[in-house]
Amino acid sequence: MRGWGRSASIIAGLIAVCAPAHLRADGTGNPAAVSSADGKYRDKNGNPTFNISKDGTVDWYSSVGYIRYTANCMQCHGPDGLGSSFAPSLVDALQTIDYRRFLDIVTNGKKNVSASQDLVMPAFGVNPNVMCYIDAIFIYLRARSDGVLERGQPQKSEPRPPGYSAVEDACMG
Ligand code: HEC
Repeated sequence: MRGWGRSASIIAGLIAVCAPAHLRADGTGNPAAVSSADGKYRDKNGNPTFNISKDGTVDWYSSVGYIRYTANCMQCHGPDGLGSSFAPSLVDALQTIDYRRFLDIVTNGKKNVSASQDLVMPAFGVNPNVMCYIDAIFIYLRARSDGVLERGQPQKSEPRPPGYSAVEDACMG
């Protein structure tokens, strides 16, 4: 029994490791980048997406998204988007939620309050620390959800796009 249990879990682990990323569901659709401007990649429908090279270099926005997610979302949604006892996994959520719905929830919040639970997602619509980086947070989480970005801080990223800091300063006011 022990032997079988062990090999079953090894097999399950191998399947999890080997599952090709393209078999994962992505609520926003095919994440393949077809264009980029100022370091931000877009998929064929024009939605923001990641771009991760074979050597692990991530696009600028995925890298910024990690930092902003960790500063503003992690305390409830757990490290690396994996969820916690306070809030659901966003790695899972983005397999069904699309970009527009994501923006709506982060801007306006979401509540699921009943006798047995009290789940409140705050509205961040007037918080520049979140809204000025909302695409970056989405792109980072989309990469996590698609299984192409490991846990933890990305080690290598594309350089800061020219003009990025000016846009950031203007947004932050
Ligand atoms: C104070 C805790 C808290 C913080 C901080 C927080 N969330 Fe949430 N979030 C929640 C809870 C609780 C829910 C579940 C609400 C529900 O079920 O209606 C939720 C739900 C969501 C959902 C919908 C998930 C689903 O499965 O429907 C998204 C998307 C989301 N949060 C994104 C974010 C992002 C992005 C940030 C950071 C900018 C963030 N949240 C910060 C508590 C939080």
